[in-house]
Amino acid sequence: MEFRHLGRSGLMVSEISYGNWITHGSQVEEDAARACVHAALDEGVTTFDTADVYAGTRAEEVLGRALEGVRRESLEIFTKVYWPTGTGPNDRGLSRKHIMESVNGSLRRLRTDYVDLYQAHRFDVETPLEETLRAFDDLVRQGKVLYVGVSEWTADQIARALKIADEMGFDRLVSSQPQYSMLWRVIEAEVVPLCEKEGLSQIVWSPIAQGVLTGKYLPGQPAPAGSRATDPTGSGFIGRMLDDELLRRVQELKPIAADLGLTMAQLAVAWVLRNPNVSSAIVGATRPEQVRDNVKASGVRLDDETMRRIDEVLGDVVERDPAKTVSPATRP
Ligand SMILES: NC(=O)c1ccc[n+]([C@@H]2O[C@H](COP(=O)([O-])OP(=O)(O)OC[C@H]3O[C@@H](n4cnc5c(N)ncnc54)[C@H](OP(=O)(O)O)[C@@H]3O)[C@@H](O)[C@H]2O)c1
Repeated sequence: MEFRHLGRSGLMVSEISYGNWITHGSQVEEDAARACVHAALDEGVTTFDTADVYAGTRAEEVLGRALEGVRRESLEIFTKVYWPTGTGPNDRGLSRKHIMESVNGSLRRLRTDYVDLYQAHRFDVETPLEETLRAFDDLVRQGKVLYVGVSEWTADQIARALKIADEMGFDRLVSSQPQYSMLWRVIEAEVVPLCEKEGLSQIVWSPIAQGVLTGKYLPGQPAPAGSRATDPTGSGFIGRMLDDELLRRVQELKPIAADLGLTMAQLAVAWVLRNPNVSSAIVGATRPEQVRDNVKASGVRLDDETMRRIDEVLGDVVERDPAKTVSPATRP
């Protein structure tokens, strides 16, 4: 496993992180969740990503139990706050009240005294940015959080936050967590250039497009049994990508992966890691074999010719519009 700095910070993260959205506390039983976490650890993954909202807070509990007994200093544990974790008006968003309450819940569920990275899961239009950033800074001073970052914020939102942090002397954001894959490149036009200039890096989600880039979903065929597309929760998220034209083009990536001696999942993960502003690709898994497959992308460097062939195959199914980075227009 190779390691990269998180933004301009001194923190190192594993190039491949393990994330537990959809899976822990929901799609997979606890034994499978534990087996995936231990496969990740065995393969040298040190960075783990979760969120308070995943599986209605159960995902953090499952991860906390799975990591119990592992030397804390050998791990980087990332979580997030914003989406609702309860029914009340203050059980959501980025107010000082919810941030302070949510972090305590996350620490309890994760069985740790601190998280390495605390991320604003979306931009909260109903809370002054100063309030959120001061609360984040207070958590850093309290030692509950070591670094702060955001997820799915636009370049403009990140720039506004950095300006306030610099004026107020708050801890600066070190990372952005966007969706990024060879199919979804919306960060390339605005978010990445700003982050390169300002010392933030990307920790990217769904690098395998939720399984689509493994090539296991065939055009015109039912989804394979046990896959995310057949899971009641997962199918709602992956559905958008199960388009026959897109799936047909993904099949055409197979010779490119084969020529390099890579699996399709490894090609997809290596593709995001080729971007120097990406610190880590967060992969999900329902089975330990998937983790063992995906981690082998660490250290693989795709050449220009491979990148060109991928672009040629995918053509206009690639999404590049920076306007697709969006947070809810009102607090959920
Ligand atoms: N910040 C955000 O808003 C946000 C949003 C989404 C995700 N995330 C983070 O990013 C992480 C990863 O997201 P993701 O789970 O969508 O990532 P992904 O790695 O693109 O997809 C993972 C899923 O693809 C399938 N898969 C993975 N490797 C495979 C392989 N080698 N062969 C066949 N199938 C394979 C598995 O599903 P099946 O076996 O069920 O098919 C697995 O659960 C999340 O856990 C979370 O930490 C963040």
